[in-house]
Amino acid sequence: MARHRRRKLIEQPFEAVIEDLSHDGRGITRINGKVMFVNGALPGESVLVKHTGGNKNFEEGVVTEVLKASVDRVEAKCKFYQICNGCTMMHLSPSKQIEFKQNTLKQNLLKMARLQPDSWLLPLTDSAWHYRRRARLSVRWVIAKDKILVGFREKNGRYVADMDYCEILQKPLDDLLMPLAKMIEALKIRQHIAQIEASIADDDVALIVRHLKPINLVDEKILLEFAQKHNVRMFSQSKGPKTIFELTKSTKPLYFDMLDGIRMEFLPSDFIQVNAGMNEKMIAQAMDLLDLQKEDVVLDLFCGLGNFTLPFSKKVKQIVGIEGEKSLVERAIHNAKLNKLDNVKFEVADLRRNHENSEWFKVNYNKVLIDPPRSGAWEVLPLIAKTKAKYLLYVSCHPASLARDTDRLVNHLGFKLIKAGVMDMFPHTSHVESIALFGR
Ligand SMILES: C[S@@+](CC[C@H](N)C(=O)[O-])C[C@H]1O[C@@H](n2cnc3c(N)ncnc32)[C@H](O)[C@@H]1O
Repeated sequence: MARHRRRKLIEQPFEAVIEDLSHDGRGITRINGKVMFVNGALPGESVLVKHTGGNKNFEEGVVTEVLKASVDRVEAKCKFYQICNGCTMMHLSPSKQIEFKQNTLKQNLLKMARLQPDSWLLPLTDSAWHYRRRARLSVRWVIAKDKILVGFREKNGRYVADMDYCEILQKPLDDLLMPLAKMIEALKIRQHIAQIEASIADDDVALIVRHLKPINLVDEKILLEFAQKHNVRMFSQSKGPKTIFELTKSTKPLYFDMLDGIRMEFLPSDFIQVNAGMNEKMIAQAMDLLDLQKEDVVLDLFCGLGNFTLPFSKKVKQIVGIEGEKSLVERAIHNAKLNKLDNVKFEVADLRRNHENSEWFKVNYNKVLIDPPRSGAWEVLPLIAKTKAKYLLYVSCHPASLARDTDRLVNHLGFKLIKAGVMDMFPHTSHVESIALFGR
């Protein structure tokens, strides 16, 4: 039987010079010719590195001391930054973070599509602190400490970070980590709580407690007391999304108001954009780039709850939103009615399939917006090319997918890349959100 030998790590921290930044924001150096990714290091720096792991392709390490600092280095504001993986770039100045993101998009476009846009958009930025209105918090009972931890994962990925406050969670969630941990410690099923999914609506905070064993009446009382004391709405979830149940039994919908006076109601498990401020700026920029006009007929693919569809509808003749998740479409239709928007239609469709014969595809669209998941929109691109749309606006949460799809759109389907830019949807992380305008 094959035996796995434990990796031998270099015991003492050693000095290294950092050459570059990886796509996930780690410093890159080399040891004996092999690439090493170093957490917390910046290009041009001399640092002491502790070897933490690796595999046959690369090694991994973490900075223990900065010997010669980069001029771009800043003191991280968060006292848990060294351990918590919720942020990975807080030691880099905000202007350099966004430069890094733009460069990531640029390099991806060059590498995969061999092109650049005709012009670059100025990066979109908003507040870098307390921007997260949606988060999945891990929960772990640490037997050795007889303590519950609630927070993001540690930088090493294995454990939950021991943190009592968060600089990026939107208020009042930023301050609820300790009270949540104390409350879970009091539960009989404390070892069987896997995570808490939090959403902040305009008037409410919703917490979904994912539990792997049934909640008894005593535990339910503890959860309800917490909800009352901290003015939050408490949901439980025993299995899949269909088992989400509101313990606080409120009859009020969760909602947020957005631009043009639109009210968006949602369920706590629905996809909503994480950063509310940036979301508004992104929608406004999308409207601008597509130059929406009263006679436009727009197709919005991967529309979710209608985050773009509803505000766009106020500016155009007609808009059709297509989304794969039926329950999101139900809520999108509800939201269109709620906002008295009658030039909007929504349909459920799996956009990996061909929809040439679908009724919604037969409409004469002149503009298209797509906002696909990380995997991109590869399968639906030929269908978009078959519309008469002159402009396609692509909102992307993964620059490599956007670059791969740009290659197909420009080098095979007859589009050109007019403008592209990045949006700082997730400050202090290496996550790159971008927007690209194609025309033909
Ligand atoms: C990044 S979200 C964008 C949602 C929306 N545009 C917004 O701004 O909130 C991507 C959306 O694509 C949907 N989606 C993922 N795969 C899909 C598929 N194969 N067909 C249709 N929709 C899909 C997801 O359910 C999700 O709502």
